[in-house]
Amino acid sequence: MKSTGGSDAAKRAAGESAAEAVEDGMVVGLGTGSTAAHAIRAIGRMVDSGLDVRGVPTSFQSRELAKEAAIPLVGLDEVDGVDLAIDGADQFSGPHLVKGGGAAHAREKIVDAAADRLLVVADPSKAAKRLDHPVPVEVLPDARTTVSADVRALGGDPQLRAAECKDGPVVTDNGNLVLDASFGPISEPANLADDLSAIPGAVEHGLFVGLADEIHVGSEDGVEVTEF
Ligand code: A5P
Repeated sequence: MKSTGGSDAAKRAAGESAAEAVEDGMVVGLGTGSTAAHAIRAIGRMVDSGLDVRGVPTSFQSRELAKEAAIPLVGLDEVDGVDLAIDGADQFSGPHLVKGGGAAHAREKIVDAAADRLLVVADPSKAAKRLDHPVPVEVLPDARTTVSADVRALGGDPQLRAAECKDGPVVTDNGNLVLDASFGPISEPANLADDLSAIPGAVEHGLFVGLADEIHVGSEDGVEVTEF
């Protein structure tokens, strides 16, 4: 699993706090990343104690972790709805998020948006007054150069994400590539999100506008929960 800023104790506090919202009979979206992983492990312990839930994984990573934790799994296309999703973020400002540091944002967005409630779990290093984190854009491989040109036309600086333990680029769980697009401070996230969504060949981007219902920010001293 990639490591991001913030202490593991803070991430664990956030993940376990959000897991407390899971109730018997729920369909739960299982987010990706090192903070959501703590929620998945906590839900696994609850299942071990008799909780009846079904999890919808958002990535290869969250599926493997959920299998390890013995959480019964189900596909998004096999359920009528998702009661609750718990997911991490690379940056948040109010209910707006930048996600996709683990290149899982396409599936995360589908599951998180389908959920009645999205609980975001984070450590304090993810908080921002205004979003300015590079926005990951998953692209069809053939569209890499045209999407890059469209991102530049929007004022962004797109960089093809390179793999760390493989020569060449990161390839997503969906077989696509990722451009990390820097825009500097993002004053109108909803407008930028619409513009990025309109680019042909851009499968999904990591701006999650207004999607969070709660943010659980963990620290060594406890958890602060903000509701929107
Ligand atoms: C995965 O693509 C991301 O959206 C993650 O949810 C995000 O990077 C948060 O990960 P961490 O909890 O590891 O920081």
